Amino acid sequence: MSNERAQGLLLDRLINSPLQHASQSVFKDMTSYEALCKEAQKEPELFWSRLAQEHLQWDHPFSHVLDKSHAPFYRWFDDGALNASVNCLDRHLGTECEHKVAIHFETVDGKVTSVTYRTLYERVCQLANALKERGVEKGDRVLIYLPMGDEGVVAMLACARIGAIHVVVFAGFSAIALHERLQDTGAVAVITANVQCRSGRELPLKAGVDDAIALGGCEHVGTILVYERTATAWPRQEGRDFSYAELVSQQPTECAPVSVSAEHPLFILYTSGSTGKPKGVVHTTAGYLLWAKLTMLWSYDIQPSDVFWCTADIGWITGHTYVTYGPLAAGATQVIMEGVPLYPDASRVWKTIQRHAVTTFYTAPTLIRALIKAAAQEDVYAPESYDLSSLRLLSSVGEPIDATAWRWFYEHVGHGRCPYVDTFFQTETGGHVITPIPGVTPLVPGSCTLPLPGMDVVIVDEAGEPRPWGQGGLLVIASPWPAMARTLWRDDERYRQSYFPEELGGTLYLAGDGAVRDEDTGYFRITGRIDDVLNVSGHRLGTTEIESALSRLDHAVAEVAVVGQPDPSTGEAVCAFVVLKKSDYGEEVARQIAQELRQQVARDISPIAKPKFIRFGSNLPKTRSGKVMRRLLRSFAQGEKEAQDISTLEDPSVLDHFSVIY
Ligand code: PRX
Repeated sequence: MSNERAQGLLLDRLINSPLQHASQSVFKDMTSYEALCKEAQKEPELFWSRLAQEHLQWDHPFSHVLDKSHAPFYRWFDDGALNASVNCLDRHLGTECEHKVAIHFETVDGKVTSVTYRTLYERVCQLANALKERGVEKGDRVLIYLPMGDEGVVAMLACARIGAIHVVVFAGFSAIALHERLQDTGAVAVITANVQCRSGRELPLKAGVDDAIALGGCEHVGTILVYERTATAWPRQEGRDFSYAELVSQQPTECAPVSVSAEHPLFILYTSGSTGKPKGVVHTTAGYLLWAKLTMLWSYDIQPSDVFWCTADIGWITGHTYVTYGPLAAGATQVIMEGVPLYPDASRVWKTIQRHAVTTFYTAPTLIRALIKAAAQEDVYAPESYDLSSLRLLSSVGEPIDATAWRWFYEHVGHGRCPYVDTFFQTETGGHVITPIPGVTPLVPGSCTLPLPGMDVVIVDEAGEPRPWGQGGLLVIASPWPAMARTLWRDDERYRQSYFPEELGGTLYLAGDGAVRDEDTGYFRITGRIDDVLNVSGHRLGTTEIESALSRLDHAVAEVAVVGQPDPSTGEAVCAFVVLKKSDYGEEVARQIAQELRQQVARDISPIAKPKFIRFGSNLPKTRSGKVMRRLLRSFAQGEKEAQDISTLEDPSVLDHFSVIY
């Protein structure tokens, strides 16, 4: 092919989507993007130091930028002091932001409360005072188990205000998962609600906290604060449990912030890894906050007139960075929605954008797929039936977005005039890593394009050697960055082994994803996890964790293996291969056990981890050395049995038994 033709084809694939009302303050064009990347490469410490001075409000300035002496346990700006809640709230008081709406909170029944920065500040101070009254101090862990709402944001910032470390647990997690996190962190207080309102039902939440504590070993929990979302009564233990009305409402609306070191832990957030126990990812104050704010400016060109809506729950990293810290540090107005965007139906999404004149819509590919399906069913669910002209930017995260869904979103929702910002990042990276600059980076449907300035992303082989464009490999980040996780809670060694493996030389951060760079553009495409972690509707789930839950049904189960299976609606679905103890069961019994297995997973982890497919067989396929052949199971689950090499299999006929799906 001639060069010109190749060039032509390449240009055909690229979409230049100008950003309306672009501020152009940081990136005017690709040249300014490249200049910033060069600045970061040439003098990384100067680059980060300049940004940290410009974008954060410090109580005490830092003089060290990066301490590498205990790599990979890096420290950033560590002799500086600041407070995260001051950076999100106090710094806006006395500015035009003070009486601006910080949060439009919309309940499931459509009631909207608009909270200004001033009111948010006062609510945070009141809750911080209540925590102090209960003896919570700097460095204490406070577990937050709340439904999606403005109260969750207040709770996170109240902890930050007094230097307590928050541990948000998604309200869909079970009492057992909660117990594990309570014990691991030694939390002294829990902030929860009597109930959460989801999909037309009230689900008890406080009772889940009681169940978790009843599992034992949680004597360190001295306070449970209960936000009364409804009038429904909740079980109370005198001296330990308090309602907001009792303890918070009467508190003063001022609370002096505790100045903490830049490296003071801001939060612990649990996520799944390849082994059974969830990882308590630790983020510290300054570096994380800096990136939360910068990425709002860089990835979203956030401006005072914007209305930002991120659909993530605060139980995940996207909710931490792009609901709580990023939008507030940037002084933005945002929408927070209680419940799920698809309840009562898909029109809720479009009505919300229309009602609040949302400009920036950040969601997950799994929601986009559901919206596409709904739009095809009835006009009332179609985006065209609503006035979405306020939108200027669309964005997604959590999973790869296929080109067809990308185009639908871009054309039907954004009418071809809103850049689509596909953001790749992880709990451990704190904020965006690979992401187009809106209005600047030419877009390719389905690609997260290029790393943000300062993010030294490389694709390497198993020995840590760089791979050429066009050839897939492991995604690594080769230089430290301020928002990186610092460690795993009380498990430095696991942090080192999981993210800085010796096989790659011990200095490269291993993301756990495969990736490839496009031969023409150099754009990155994420090819999926390389470890035993699944991605179901953008939720990260460890196969070992699910296997442990299934094995706990030990009266019935002899052995299990869990793999991921591509799924048109959830991206990936959980598929469990189960060997039962008894071999003489009929269809009816199998069906009943399958149901019990699903309940067991919901009870141990969360309903989101329930296997969609359960297959029963007499033996798991193993190599002669006794290892379960997961690759083979994955291909089998996808119906690719014939293509597999089964020569190393002890008994090649074992797979036939697994053909029925329950
Ligand atoms: O596999 C990648 C996938 O989600 C993983 C991170 O999951 P978690 O820590 O729960 O954070 C999710 C939200 C940031 C990654 O290792 N992932 C995230 N974003 C993308 C993605 N895969 C493809 N494209 C993305 N944009």
